[in-house]
Amino acid sequence: MRGGESGRASVEGDAHAPAAGGDAPAHDRDAAILAAAHATLKANWREGRRRSGEHYAFTCPGAPRYRHLWHWDSCFHAIAWRRFDPARARAELRTVLRAGRPDGFLPHTVFWDSPARWRRAPLYATRRVRGDWMTETIGPPLLPFAWEIVAGASPDDLGFATEALAPLARHLDWLEHHRDPDGDGLLTIIAPDESGLDDSPKYDPVFGRLCHDRAGYFWLMERSRRLGWDSRAIIARHAEHVEDVWVSVAYAMSCAALGRLRGEGADGRYTVRAARTAAALVDRCWDERRGLFFDLAGPGERPVPVSTWTALAPLCLGDLIPVAIRARLVEEHLLHPRRYAAPVGIPSVAMEEPTFRPGFDRWRAWRGPSWMNIAWLLVPHIAAAGHEPAARRIADRLATAVLHEGFREYYDPRHGRGLGVRGFGWSTLVTDLLLPG
Ligand code: GLC
Repeated sequence: MRGGESGRASVEGDAHAPAAGGDAPAHDRDAAILAAAHATLKANWREGRRRSGEHYAFTCPGAPRYRHLWHWDSCFHAIAWRRFDPARARAELRTVLRAGRPDGFLPHTVFWDSPARWRRAPLYATRRVRGDWMTETIGPPLLPFAWEIVAGASPDDLGFATEALAPLARHLDWLEHHRDPDGDGLLTIIAPDESGLDDSPKYDPVFGRLCHDRAGYFWLMERSRRLGWDSRAIIARHAEHVEDVWVSVAYAMSCAALGRLRGEGADGRYTVRAARTAAALVDRCWDERRGLFFDLAGPGERPVPVSTWTALAPLCLGDLIPVAIRARLVEEHLLHPRRYAAPVGIPSVAMEEPTFRPGFDRWRAWRGPSWMNIAWLLVPHIAAAGHEPAARRIADRLATAVLHEGFREYYDPRHGRGLGVRGFGWSTLVTDLLLPG
């Protein structure tokens, strides 16, 4: 059993847990967290050359369980790295891009330095069961979004902002062509983990026996292999797919970022695309009665009315979403004590959902615990909606949890106990919550 499941974990045993005591004044606390975040990122850094000669440099999410490169993890790692070492932040994003195909496809997971271990290999979304060095699935498409943030922290490399405009555009075009077959501006995923939220209860009614934690997942992988991972063919042939709110939000965030990197005006190609996806989310996914955004499942595009953090994710689009909707997401949900206003962090599932499970589950993630990236994405928008003290409180309590528990994969929203992998890369994003800007 991993630490933290059976009892309260102590900072001992976590080499990179912050060293200041639990009652340290905020500046000591913040300094300790910053130093520990830098140490954790350094410990997880992997750099080398493949046999084919390609260079890689990335942060693994948390060894030994997560030894490879994951698309959205690396985007978050680069954002965290920019405070400590912008050159590493840039190197990590360039590595994410280098793994892509010339047509613009970027993989969810890349086995840069070691192939998937044989026992897990059939579970990875690879072209063949063994021997491939990347998956054929996508991750939340955050690369252009992260690129803009890292470029903003790169006064020492002004060319970085524009060096990859063409491949970043090809990536967004690939997504539009392959993942929006009905052309409505919303992106479709063909496996639950493509959103990064592998076992979220919102996928239970969509994928059923093919869910990530069930035996049918082997079949989901295998039947996709048989169709050569042609997403349009898979979407046409099978019912288990979903127009995903969070993946569409990430796509719109990246379209808007690429528009700015290209210096586009309001009628620029990617700027218009971001606005179009935001409008589609409001038109098609917004549930006026519940005040939440729901995924649309299968060919019938039926809404999946489960309240998970992704039902709030369009907040990340700021002005592209009407202000009245943003106010409802914050006031009726994020600040609601039975929904998302937990003692620690922002839970991944609303606390009042029957499927909410706040503790550790070896087989299923994203069914309740608080993850740092959720807070990183949503907290600034709570503040922007006029609720600064609530935003501050969430950041402070997460900082306290990190101080006691270290950088864990996720935290129990009831009291902040650290759960899952230790020394987890994107939990270092807490530094941004402490030092915004
Ligand atoms: C788990 C998480 C996923 C993350 C990956 C690597 O599969 O569910 O979101 O990208 O681990 O950290």
